[in-house]
Amino acid sequence: MKFGLPPADGTRFRSAWADLAGVGRDHRWGGYSRHGFDDADVQLRQWFTEQATRRGLDVENDRNGNVWAWWGEPGPDSVVTGSHLDSVPGGGAFDGPLGVISGLLAIDELKLRGVTPARPVAVACFLEEEGGRFGLPCLGSRLMTGTVDPDHARRLHDPDGVSLADAAKRSGLDPSGMGPDPARLASVGTFVELHIEQGRLLTAADPAAVVGIGSEIVAHGRWRITVTGQGNHAGTTRWTDRHDPMIPAAAGVLAARREIANFPGAVATVGRIHPIPGGTNVIASSVQFWLDARHESAVVTATLVDAIVSAVRQEAAAEGCAVVVQRESMSDRVVLDAGLGLQLSALLDVPVIPTGAGHDAGILAPHVPTAMLFVRNNSGISHAPEEHADVADCVIGVDALADVLEELVK
Ligand code: GLV
Ligand code: MN
Ligand code: MN
Repeated sequence: MKFGLPPADGTRFRSAWADLAGVGRDHRWGGYSRHGFDDADVQLRQWFTEQATRRGLDVENDRNGNVWAWWGEPGPDSVVTGSHLDSVPGGGAFDGPLGVISGLLAIDELKLRGVTPARPVAVACFLEEEGGRFGLPCLGSRLMTGTVDPDHARRLHDPDGVSLADAAKRSGLDPSGMGPDPARLASVGTFVELHIEQGRLLTAADPAAVVGIGSEIVAHGRWRITVTGQGNHAGTTRWTDRHDPMIPAAAGVLAARREIANFPGAVATVGRIHPIPGGTNVIASSVQFWLDARHESAVVTATLVDAIVSAVRQEAAAEGCAVVVQRESMSDRVVLDAGLGLQLSALLDVPVIPTGAGHDAGILAPHVPTAMLFVRNNSGISHAPEEHADVADCVIGVDALADVLEELVK
């Protein structure tokens, strides 16, 4: 690594990080549950606004629920960093907020270095990157870039039936303004998202590396599969009389694990399943479950999903159940800007790694030169409370981001 050693105590990082520690804690599952427009999200947006204002940055709330803090007038040659503040249910502290805090601290660092940027700099927080409440990941960046139909987005609803439109309204955002925002997008000249690494690729590439540069994001998507059978009594219904939707759903779970062996490099996960009505002594009348599938290639991803769905259909036919499959999202493989990646790897001299996780960077990349920085995660765990990056590593991440911004604003 070429960049300098961090201040040994990490005081600035610790103090900024401490602000977020109590917000959106999930006392049932551990970790954090912070979702678009919920109380935790609103509190975090307020925190971001205060922090940015205190730094003399100009804060703007855009039409799509994203918040921007500008150092300098927005312009087409701006350098934007940032990430998201929401989490998965029971998620870790770092996925998202690390990129936002690092953006603010990197601006502090540039000021300490006496840098006067020749290009505007901004930190952005994108709405509901995880899709933990409304189901569609990268909601704010998709809306801004026109990657989702705003009518469709407004109608998305959370498990309690609250629509995105109503949730936005309740938090003071007029949902009728949601949709493509070409002027906003044109004000992003370059985007750099710093993120905690979410697996073990960085350490595998170089056991000593604290920071890595992203090369690409694999294709990934989400499918909601509804199996409908006949609700009935768990004690009195003979096996032969059952139409139990849990059986095809279980076949789907097992097929996800089995089929990835036929598609090297693929992953498929059922992390959410909802039997209706959900009673111990009740044969469910229907079961909804969600399949997350990923592979470098979108075609392979689709073929894998077909294989899993046909296992569900086969079992459903035997059980006398019906199956409906709805694709909730699909993101093609994204190769991040190669020229920018080369520039940053010459600057930082750190490993270049792909990622299996989705990011707002992947939504912006087809529109603007985009790069990602990853900070070492010693736990190798993400989307769970055990997700962890050491403070010393986070400080090195801030320093690396400051180096990158300093280079790009010249
Ligand atoms: C988000 O982190 C995802 O990869 O789903
Ligand atoms: Mn995530
Ligand atoms: Mn993230």
